[in-house]
Amino acid sequence: MIQRFQFGQMLPTESVVLSLPVAGSPVPFLTPEGTGWRYDMAPEDVIYGLGEMVRGMNKRGWHYCANNSDEPHHTEDKQSLYGAHNFLLVSGGTGRPTFGVFIDFAGPVEYDIGYTDEEILTFRTSEPDYDLYLITGEGPADICRELRRLTGRSYIPPKWAFGLAQSRWGYQCEADIRAVAQGYRENNLPLDMICMDIDYMANFADFTVNQERFPDLAGLAAGMKSQGIHLVPIIDAGIRADDKDETCREGLERDYFCKKEDGTPFVAAVWPGEAYFADFLRPEVRSWFGGRYRALTELGIDGFWNDMNEPALFYTPDRLKAAVQRAAELGAKGNLDMYAFSELQQLINGLSNNPDDYRSFYHLVDDQPVRHDRVHNLYGGNMTRAAGEALQALRPDRRTLLYSRSSFIGSHRYGGIWLGDNDSSWAQLRENIHQMASVQMCGFLYTGADLGGFGGDTTPDLVMRWLEFGIFTPLMRNHSALGTRNQEYYRFEKWIPSIRNLLNLRMALLPYLYSEFMKAALGDGLYFRPLAFDYPGDAMARQVEDQLLLGEGLMVAPVCTQNAAGRYVYLPEPMKLLRLRSVDDFDTELMPAGHHYIPCALNEVLLFLRPGCLVPVARPACCVAELDETPFTFWSYPVEGSPCTYRMYSDDGVGTDYDRPEHWRTLKAGTGQ
Ligand code: GLC
Repeated sequence: MIQRFQFGQMLPTESVVLSLPVAGSPVPFLTPEGTGWRYDMAPEDVIYGLGEMVRGMNKRGWHYCANNSDEPHHTEDKQSLYGAHNFLLVSGGTGRPTFGVFIDFAGPVEYDIGYTDEEILTFRTSEPDYDLYLITGEGPADICRELRRLTGRSYIPPKWAFGLAQSRWGYQCEADIRAVAQGYRENNLPLDMICMDIDYMANFADFTVNQERFPDLAGLAAGMKSQGIHLVPIIDAGIRADDKDETCREGLERDYFCKKEDGTPFVAAVWPGEAYFADFLRPEVRSWFGGRYRALTELGIDGFWNDMNEPALFYTPDRLKAAVQRAAELGAKGNLDMYAFSELQQLINGLSNNPDDYRSFYHLVDDQPVRHDRVHNLYGGNMTRAAGEALQALRPDRRTLLYSRSSFIGSHRYGGIWLGDNDSSWAQLRENIHQMASVQMCGFLYTGADLGGFGGDTTPDLVMRWLEFGIFTPLMRNHSALGTRNQEYYRFEKWIPSIRNLLNLRMALLPYLYSEFMKAALGDGLYFRPLAFDYPGDAMARQVEDQLLLGEGLMVAPVCTQNAAGRYVYLPEPMKLLRLRSVDDFDTELMPAGHHYIPCALNEVLLFLRPGCLVPVARPACCVAELDETPFTFWSYPVEGSPCTYRMYSDDGVGTDYDRPEHWRTLKAGTGQ
């Protein structure tokens, strides 16, 4: 059940697709406290939700603030990353209530979840105008389903987007792209996508192509597609300020950019240098900007990633000027001491993403100017909406791949997200597991982190272990930052045979993984879930943070500690272990419920089959388009009284007629049907 409570007159967010009557107070379970709300937690209550935030799946013990940030250091001390996912799921211990809260609000929301007092949860919005939805249901998964019913069906990518994406900031020219394709194909490693970072553009200007380095992008895209590889270019939020640039000229002519109080367009520097920012909150601006993607779809591009859309601001010209002036003043005084150093350091650190800059420009909402900071969290998600809606119009009946860095609940209808600039650390691999479960609760099903890590130098063992989890994430993308150690999978020569086995395993499992994804998308369900969602009475399961249920029948338990030759796994019920070295080289073992230490070498993956589960396994292929989905074998864990059948979803992977009954069939082991 969903109850809507209204406080003041909120600015529209369009997060919600159901129009519900307003309920009268009081709000069940919550008590007003100050300008916000309070809930007294019992020690065994688990607080899920908040999507893309740092720390565990259980959010207790820290304070957070939904305030979309271009934050490249995803450490535990952070309060916000790129997405505003204002959904809390209180999962009560025995005899305690379980409910969800969705706060429909465009600005910052602060949460204190046992940070000040370990038994008290509080949250408050920065303004008194918002809608609060109180959601109850049969349990956590059902409450997430209700949230999706409230906020709309999740975005569905094309099936090829479940293949591997290779990306790196630093591919400079056609030859670099071809070398990546060759590296994969020569080594017989499956690949479906190569992402093109900012260097494909001319002067980092959106919807342009650098003609010297990419003289024939259409030809390149077609050539790649003939090898089963899709090119996926990046689009940034900042529009290069350049009167020779068509996007810039059109935006200025039509008056589509965000403005300062004096009515002139707001300018801040990002990758292209000084840039303007389209007012994505206006429908006509969305449709204009989205229409610009045509420049690339016409060249045969059918996938995009939207970036820097919090929006990231490296500096504003005025602030930079003031900083330089102040530095000169300090220098002129000749007294360059610790105080001068500290002041300079603060000046420099304060240039990027400065809160005062976010307070210095305006959007038009229903023709009225609204200061950016009040609607900040809607910006990136509306860029995704601009692209998503326009691409649907440009390519009707065909799916386009789209994922974004910044988001809010509601933008999950238009695109997926990737988890931004993580780094090559074991801590970030663990964080990836937590975030996958949490963002899915908020509706973002098509998600994944930069495998191997974005920032910093990776190591072969981290690459292996991260891929062993990555082969199960819907978006499976290896991406790394300029200047870091190269981390395309073929670079790790000694490990290529094992990596091939892992990528082949992804391919072999793809019919199951895609089918489970589609079940989750079409049925408002969850592809990844914490164990406690399916084993509600199991107090131990409520504590497990590094294992996930995957679809109906599987559980994954990645090794995420360096030098570990195995790990402890908790089984809430008996399961069948597959310790896989490849799709046809594995050990199996029936394991009773409880705790187990399970050895797992660096080239092995632990996969658990739940009782009654049947998994169709296909023959691997070099790309999704080449995959024959007819199961060549089944993995199953038959138990008495459980028929071991699998309800499989399968479609052409590009059309949008998802709901046709012929996409479903029931498989039984041994029949191959
Ligand atoms: C941002 C993105 C990253 C990209 C880089 C250059 O940091 O998050 O993925 O590689 O910009 O475009």
